[in-house]
Amino acid sequence: MAGYLVEDTRKVTTHRLREMKEQGKKIAMLTAYDYTMAQIIDGAGVDMILVGDSASNVMAGNYTTLPITIDEMIYHARSVVRGTRRALVVCDMPFGTYQVNETEAVSNAIRIMKETGCDALKLEGGEEIIEAVKKILAAGIPVCGHLGLTPQSICKFGTYAVRAKEEAEAAKLVRDAHLLEEAGCCAVVLEKIPAVLCERVCQELRIPVIGIGAGEADGQVLVCQDMLGMNKGFSPKFLRRYADLHTVITDAVGQYVTDVKKATFPNADERY
Ligand code: KIV
Repeated sequence: MAGYLVEDTRKVTTHRLREMKEQGKKIAMLTAYDYTMAQIIDGAGVDMILVGDSASNVMAGNYTTLPITIDEMIYHARSVVRGTRRALVVCDMPFGTYQVNETEAVSNAIRIMKETGCDALKLEGGEEIIEAVKKILAAGIPVCGHLGLTPQSICKFGTYAVRAKEEAEAAKLVRDAHLLEEAGCCAVVLEKIPAVLCERVCQELRIPVIGIGAGEADGQVLVCQDMLGMNKGFSPKFLRRYADLHTVITDAVGQYVTDVKKATFPNADERY
């Protein structure tokens, strides 16, 4: 069952993404890391699901995305694929699986595709990883780029502040976006950059640009738990909260604890 305003219930493909950009239809993307959430958000009509390496933070409680392993990403992506019918599922290649050399990159990419059944992979970076991107594409695997604030480079950046505010970094980002498009990427994520820069890239590229903290783009992505209000402590300016699940869950669990302690659960109808 597809959600409100979703007329096309066919599986979203890379071809369809390109059509959506051409037709001026916005692309809605969210992260998911497990079967249950994937089923809910796919049924609600998202076009793309990102099995982000943000699972390292959101699922495992790590400070950065760096520690998550390829085996852990495969576990998350496989679970998401099982819960998804319509959306295009993109899996992040985790830190260290594509930066060493192109041969390693392509064999890790093939492994993720084979073992998860996902539809595309996302890699962070431009010129520095372009040979790996080309090799993965040459193997027939769709690739989504990711520029701007690339969390796998957080130790190098030393801050989660907005990227590409300076002319040189902005010019490199535009060059990198073109390189990714020319290589054959199906989309590019731009994270935490000035809105005017994102608008420029959207205009210059024919592939869809998905923004997060980047103003208006061809589509938007958010971390599902953040937009559902499950993480109280994370409130960047770009985050719109669509629910307060932290309160909903806390109240529900509190009520359950009370009922168990008072022995009002289970009642006569809730037993065999
Ligand atoms: O891992 C992730 O969730 C991401 C998004 C923030 C774009 O890469």
